[in-house]
Amino acid sequence: MCGIVGYAGRRDAAGVLIDGLNKLEYRGYDSFGIATSDDGIHIVKKQGRISENGSSVSGLTGHIGIGHTRWATHGVPDDKNAHPHTCCTGDIAVVHNGIISNYAKLKRELIAGGHLFSSDTDSEVIAHLIEENLNGSLLEAVNDTVQILEGSYAFLAMSKDDPGIIAARMESPLVLGLGDGEIFASSDMTTILDYTQNIVFLEDGDIASVSSDKIIIFNSGNQVERAAEIVEWDAGAARMGGFAHFMEKEIYEQPEVFFNTLASVDDGEIIEEIKGSSGLRVIACGSSYHAGLIFRYMMEECSDIPVRVDLASEFRYFRPVSGELVIAVTQSGETADTIAALKQAQMHNCRTLAITNVLGSSVTRVADYTLYMRAGPEISVAATKSFIAQLAVFFQIVNHLCDGRYNYMDKMCHQVIEEVLLLDMEDAVSLCSGAGNLFFVGRSVFYPVSLEGALKMKEITYIHAEGYAAGELKHGPFSLLSKDTPVVAVCTPGNSRTAMLSNIREIKTRGAPVIGIGEVDDPDLEDIVDVLIPIPKSPVSGQILAVTVLMQVLAYRTAKVLGRDIDKPRNLAKSVTVE
Ligand code: F6R
Repeated sequence: MCGIVGYAGRRDAAGVLIDGLNKLEYRGYDSFGIATSDDGIHIVKKQGRISENGSSVSGLTGHIGIGHTRWATHGVPDDKNAHPHTCCTGDIAVVHNGIISNYAKLKRELIAGGHLFSSDTDSEVIAHLIEENLNGSLLEAVNDTVQILEGSYAFLAMSKDDPGIIAARMESPLVLGLGDGEIFASSDMTTILDYTQNIVFLEDGDIASVSSDKIIIFNSGNQVERAAEIVEWDAGAARMGGFAHFMEKEIYEQPEVFFNTLASVDDGEIIEEIKGSSGLRVIACGSSYHAGLIFRYMMEECSDIPVRVDLASEFRYFRPVSGELVIAVTQSGETADTIAALKQAQMHNCRTLAITNVLGSSVTRVADYTLYMRAGPEISVAATKSFIAQLAVFFQIVNHLCDGRYNYMDKMCHQVIEEVLLLDMEDAVSLCSGAGNLFFVGRSVFYPVSLEGALKMKEITYIHAEGYAAGELKHGPFSLLSKDTPVVAVCTPGNSRTAMLSNIREIKTRGAPVIGIGEVDDPDLEDIVDVLIPIPKSPVSGQILAVTVLMQVLAYRTAKVLGRDIDKPRNLAKSVTVE
């Protein structure tokens, strides 16, 4: 959840680290810190955001350094809990992403042995353990330390007496970038793509000794080779390019993202694996879970293969059935719950497929097969283009399994999404921004689309928004309806339309204003709603895209009116690498 970055080379390390942390801020932004090394270790760390306090660290000298931007898990966000953490003497500094699950016991033992702690974090134990184990080189001390650690970590360590950085990875992302006489380390490769596209993906258990011109990697005590891969992501895609927010930019990239992803899913072996399975089990979290739910409706409409969709964090309480193909959907490829669920499925002899956006991410190292979305780097914390890309993967899977029923998609997707981006939603935005509570309702496939719409709204506006199956509202939530509780209701042509019209009338009768989303020229709907947002006429697949994008835009514009921190909503982080 936090972001870490390291540098060894000819440049001023602080400048590179500040730049990296600015790009990593979406992973966590409640405090930050940097350590550099020349004739000793210099550290600045602070509560707050690097983007607002960068000048406080710019004076640090040295050509080697490590940095961290934090999303608090252990210990409140304040100066003392910010990374880097040091050992008792201050000669060893560590930045860590992940959770050391046995830290409490380790901390007790270290304190009993005379170590003095200065933070409430789990991470600080790493610095003290390295100090305890330091008998020769920093590399050996880190190697001894990781034998004792339990949990997940990507950490960078440096010491006053060592001329480089040691990087260690276990179940948390960590990459190295090879430049010309300089080497970069980061929890996210988008940080370093401006400097180099030559990326080494570390694997679980790897410990790398990094200096300005050399990397030596060990795993289980043996030296290993990890070939560098050329990553062709456009570094410019990770910049804002004239838009007010990354979220807005990413919303506008969706026509292209959908098209590119649709075109890229053509792996015959995976399609055969799906066809041969007795059932599909999708596991995912948040928006990715909603994409899985949408897939279920689409798939079960035209295929006999049953689809079950589970929240990854709940999957461990169910029994996977061998013969099922388990599909982990995770844009980041790093979500801890999803990866844990995938491993559990493998223990039950299930075949596994990952759908992810990030090349070489952790999930790709666990799954038997991987399908990549082609969304490019997504910086805004709220998922938009990665969600559309997940839908593109699923649409294409259904297309392959159901005799090309979505063959027309590539031609119409651009147009549908682009038309939605031009819609006027001012009345709807004004109703939403004045509300304390909102419902998003739909039937059939528009039920999960509504769940996603509500998630987007609550995530970036901080308005309580609940997604509901429209038919379920009367089984309890009706008691919440009033003139102050607007309901966003999806009512498009198709098998749910008649029932949906009745549900909207019931909602209106309870006094709640209704923002209707339906096709253009629908007088029946227009008559009963307070505000109508019309989407272009299209088959159901186009309607799904249109309503999804419309709800993203509605949330975005509402958050803008409310002056929210849209790309970095409070308390959130983009990549959730803790269970
Ligand atoms: C919401 C959002 C989250 C993620 C969830 C899973 O906008 O971004 O709900 O969808 O944290 O993340 P991934 O897909 O990376 O596993």
